[in-house]
Amino acid sequence: MLKFDVVVVGAGGAGMMAALSASEKNNLKVAVLSKIFPTRSHTGAAQGGINAAMGYRDSTDSPEKHFRDTVKGSDFLADQDAVEFFTSGMPDMISELDYYGVPFSRDEKGQVAQRPFGGASSPRTCYSADKTGHVILHALYEQCLKNHVQFLNEWFLLSLVVEDGKFEGLVAMDIRDGKIHPIQAKSVVIASGGFGRIYWSRTTNAINMTGDGTAACFEAGIPLKDPEFIQFHPTGLAQTGVLLSEACRGEGGYLINKDGERFMARYAPEKMELGPRDLVSRSIETEIKEGRGFGEGMTSYVLMDLRHLGEKKIMERLPQVRELALEFEGVDLIKEPVPIRPSCHYTMGGIHVSDYKTCSTPIEGIHAAGECCSVSIHGANRLGGNSVADVVFFGKYAGLGAKESAMRRSFGRTEKLEQEANAWKTKFKTIREKTTGVSMFSIRNRLAETMWNYVGIFRTESEMAQALATVDELIEEYKDAYAGDASVKYNMAFINYVEIGNILKLARAVAMGALNRRESRGSHSRGDYPTRNDEQFLKHTLIYKDGENYRLEYAPVTITNYQPEERKY
Ligand code: FUM
Repeated sequence: MLKFDVVVVGAGGAGMMAALSASEKNNLKVAVLSKIFPTRSHTGAAQGGINAAMGYRDSTDSPEKHFRDTVKGSDFLADQDAVEFFTSGMPDMISELDYYGVPFSRDEKGQVAQRPFGGASSPRTCYSADKTGHVILHALYEQCLKNHVQFLNEWFLLSLVVEDGKFEGLVAMDIRDGKIHPIQAKSVVIASGGFGRIYWSRTTNAINMTGDGTAACFEAGIPLKDPEFIQFHPTGLAQTGVLLSEACRGEGGYLINKDGERFMARYAPEKMELGPRDLVSRSIETEIKEGRGFGEGMTSYVLMDLRHLGEKKIMERLPQVRELALEFEGVDLIKEPVPIRPSCHYTMGGIHVSDYKTCSTPIEGIHAAGECCSVSIHGANRLGGNSVADVVFFGKYAGLGAKESAMRRSFGRTEKLEQEANAWKTKFKTIREKTTGVSMFSIRNRLAETMWNYVGIFRTESEMAQALATVDELIEEYKDAYAGDASVKYNMAFINYVEIGNILKLARAVAMGALNRRESRGSHSRGDYPTRNDEQFLKHTLIYKDGENYRLEYAPVTITNYQPEERKY
């Protein structure tokens, strides 16, 4: 049986940072398990940058201002002790990344360059052109190799094994040969990314963002915190939802409707296009709903104009954005405005992290970092540039926490691990042999349509109740789903089958959390409860899975420096 001290699930920024810190200066055996090759992880799609109050571009900036902006951006749902820990540690984290070899763009003094981003009171987003996540990913991968971290590439997490409330190991498939393995470990860091693919095609997320680690934790008994908070990035390409970075607006791009009006003046007169994402996304959708957009139905859009920045600046600061617009929308944004519409970008909620300093969960030995979990520093709405910051910062503390767990714990028993692996082997065989039933892709597509239409940017009681009922029906239908591929090796249909099961479970929690939160806060905007209700809902949602049933509880938010007030931009 495979045996490691620490296993990290996911090889994005959080996973690699966790592996790096767990493997630093000790003899622990650390492995990273990833369903795709590490440098193809979704962190690579993070374009615009990483927030840290370096004060290079604005000497009045400070970690305290970053703290305040983040709490305000979160619509006061973030835990303020965790946010302060994060914002005060970020400047050192940038130096650490610099030391690891991340090629940041530089200002004229040779310092790390910073640009404005939405919801920030100073330009504090450090960047490497518009490929920030990509370069961080490569630098961290090299550092992990240097530390002899073992990579299990193209391995897929199937489940976590917990006995007497303690983590014992996990079951995973080597996709290449189809073999299913029990893996013993003393601790695990789940860093498997978000679950934006519950909206399937209207998302900026990579195709593999199906929340596998989040679903495995949920199944193992860890609650999901605040799953109802889904971020819609304002500037997805109209036809595909592919991300055009917030850096476009940070560098001076603006939004126009069909009357040629810079409509953000109506919604955020001071911040304009650099309002927070929840606000800018709602503004775009309102323009479209009220007939001031272009096109019809799902393909409606407004325009983002960057032409005034000029070719030189666009090619220097936004080369990838230009390429994406050309490839996926057929528009050269040096010469013409580009059609955009909000696209699901980020899941603020996820695995409940109960101690932000070690990123531990309620189950001993299980830690989590990055988008798969909720620490919670983003609350009801994340600020652009705080995600890459979150993954590297809390990735490091999750790795240290898992290292400490591994040094304290010993290997447990293997019977349950073996049993769980055998159950998955039987399931794999059954699904391979099944030749009829409900098409799993039709389930996936109906789920996405339901979530987009009824648990999207604007929400109401009746629509969400309808969504929950439909998701329940789809969960029933999934029991008879078939994958249509009998092969053992590289059976991607089976992987898709498990992924669809995962997004169904998570979508149900999103709909349930949203239906029960009878207020509007951050990204959760209800037509029937249009205002924030601190008296009843200044609290975190926690959803537990007890067998087939979901149970909803609430937990307090930690308020330290900033009392809730109305958000104005
Ligand atoms: O717009 C962007 O470049 C994305 C950044 C983020 O989500 O933090």
